[in-house]
Amino acid sequence: MITNKPLRIAVIGGDGTGPEVAAEGMKVLRAVAKLEGIPVETKDFDFGGDRYLATGEILPEGAVEELATFDSILLGAVGHPDVAPGILEKGLLLELRFTFDQYINLRPVKLFPGVETPLAGKKPEDIDFVVVRENTEDMYAGAGGFLKKGTPDEVAMQTAIYTRKGCERCIRWAFEYTRKRNQKKRLTLVAKTNVLTYGHSLWQRTFDDVAKDYPDIETDYNHVDACCMWMVKNPEYYDVIVTTNMFGDIITDLAGILQGGMGVAAGGNINPEPGGTSMFEPMGGSAPKYTGRGLINPIATIAAAGMLLEQAGHEKAAARVLKAIQTVTGTKMKSQAAGKMGYSTSEVGDLVVEAL
Ligand code: IPM
Ligand code: MN
Repeated sequence: MITNKPLRIAVIGGDGTGPEVAAEGMKVLRAVAKLEGIPVETKDFDFGGDRYLATGEILPEGAVEELATFDSILLGAVGHPDVAPGILEKGLLLELRFTFDQYINLRPVKLFPGVETPLAGKKPEDIDFVVVRENTEDMYAGAGGFLKKGTPDEVAMQTAIYTRKGCERCIRWAFEYTRKRNQKKRLTLVAKTNVLTYGHSLWQRTFDDVAKDYPDIETDYNHVDACCMWMVKNPEYYDVIVTTNMFGDIITDLAGILQGGMGVAAGGNINPEPGGTSMFEPMGGSAPKYTGRGLINPIATIAAAGMLLEQAGHEKAAARVLKAIQTVTGTKMKSQAAGKMGYSTSEVGDLVVEAL
């Protein structure tokens, strides 16, 4: 169906360097949308640490309802030096993931040309896999509490919650994604079934059940600790990994450094249902010490904008962004580290626009 309905994007720059990188992501997105004839409508939201410190609110009344009218959210970064850890993360990032039921956290791990990896002898063709992280359950669900808090007898509980529905929808999406990606056609479940004999038994049984519907996909299992070894030793083995929320958080930082660090690693919080609102972000934090200095690398956010386009069904535009990024990393940038790129934050954005 050809439609002229605009793609509506809510932009939350957030804290620290978030607004700077979000601006570059949107610069590239607008440029490619123009080239591809995609109408785009955007609105900026000032949610984050500064607003919280000024008003005491993270997501003001009506914010969720308004964000729900957008197709996608582009998020810069969350984390403010004057706000205690956990407040903004829980009140903004996790709140949006949960409220919009963004049950897939998609993290492509791709070494772009010209980008340095700490792995000796590995090339772009060796580091090219995707982690599908469940994004609404596990220890992130916030179940737990204290008993006798602050006393020598204190008890703290933090419970991992897994549901059949939650892991099944994620696993099924991962199988579909592996099929569509059409590369090695291998899906690896990463868990810890030798210790987490309840929750990860549910994951394993669900994985085995769903696998029956995908005879064309090779399945495999890694314990999470072993996965950390293999990912460093033989990253070329992996095609798609599906894993739990907590383990996915950890292994995607490891994977992020293999692909050149937080300057390039992007992720999508996806609600794949019709009408769902998804959210895309660079994996790195708010980097307060670099704020406002034009030193931070916007490539991850530009890649996140590309993922946004892909999820919105604009695959050609997304492919164009990915290719332009690779041209810029491969032929222009000196490094992916903040302050060492050879260009300012906005110059890198301009280079990607030129390469489109
Ligand atoms: C991530 C981050 C978040 C997470 C934090 C900021 C809550 O580390 O997106 O990986 O743990 O999911
Ligand atoms: Mn993380």
